Amino acid sequence: MSDPAARPRTAAVVVAAGKGLRIGGDLPKQYRRVGGRAVLTRTLAALAQHPDIDRIQPVIAPDAADFYRECLADLDIDLGKKLSEPVEGGATRQQSVRAGLEALAVTGGVPDLVLVHDAARPHVATDLIDRAIRAGREHGAAVPGVAVSDTIKLVEPIAPGIGRVHETPAREALRAVQTPQAFGYAALIAAHRRAADEGRDGFTDDGALAEWAGLQVVVFEGDAANRKITQPSDLIEADRSFSQGAGDV
Ligand code: CTP
Ligand code: MG
Repeated sequence: MSDPAARPRTAAVVVAAGKGLRIGGDLPKQYRRVGGRAVLTRTLAALAQHPDIDRIQPVIAPDAADFYRECLADLDIDLGKKLSEPVEGGATRQQSVRAGLEALAVTGGVPDLVLVHDAARPHVATDLIDRAIRAGREHGAAVPGVAVSDTIKLVEPIAPGIGRVHETPAREALRAVQTPQAFGYAALIAAHRRAADEGRDGFTDDGALAEWAGLQVVVFEGDAANRKITQPSDLIEADRSFSQGAGDV
C-alpha cells in the first residue's frame, strides 16, 4: 500500500463521547491517564502513526472540549496534518459514529475506506490496523474478532441477576468482536442514515448495524491485547502495561 495513487483514501473515526459509567469517577475513562498519558492520547497516536491512515476524525462529548485540549497537549508527535477538529457525539455510540461519518463528508474530501475505533481501546497495534484495512478493502465490511475462552449462554433475564438459558451456541463458532472495524465509507454512512431514518438506535457496534442494513460482514483475526477499557480493573491493567512500555507510541 505504499503507492499513494493505488491505495484507498482511508479515514478513522474515533468515538470518544461516552461517559464511562461502568468505570465511574468524575473524569470519563478516555481522559484518564494510563502510564502517564490519557487513554485517548494513546489511541489517537496509535492510529496516527499508521502510514495508511490519512485522516482521523475524533468525536467527543459536548462538554469535553477542555479535556480534549489537554489530551492533545500530551501528544509527543505532530498529528496536525491528519487530525481533524473534533465533532460532538450523541447520546449513544451509534449516534457518535454517525456524527463522525457526517463530519468526514463535509470537510477534506470523502474517504474510500473508514475505520471506526473506540477511544477506549488504546492498545490498538499496527498489525491489527493493517489487517483491518486489508479486510475492509477486500470485503467492504470487516470486524476484528477473537475466539472466546468461556462458554457463552444466550439468556433471557427473569429476575435481578438471574437469566433463563435459551441456548448454548457452539463455542468454536463464536468470536468476541473488537474495533477497529473497517467499511467502505459510502456503504457505512448510507447504513447509518437509513438506521436513523427508521428510528433504529443503540447498535453497539457498526458490524451489527451493517448486518442490519444487509451488508455481508466478515470477521478477521483480532488481537487479544486490544482490550476495551470498560471496568475499573481494565484501567489498572492498562496503566500497568503502558507503564512497562507496552505499545508505547
Ligand atoms: N461512545 C461514544 N458515544 C456514546 C457512547 C460511547 O462515543 N454516546 C464511545 C466511548 O467513548 C468508547 C466507545 O464508544 O470509546 C465504546 O463504548 P463504551 O466502552 O461502552 O464506553 P462508555 O459508553 O463511555 O462506557 P459505559 O458504557 O460504561 O458508560
Ligand atoms: Mg457504553
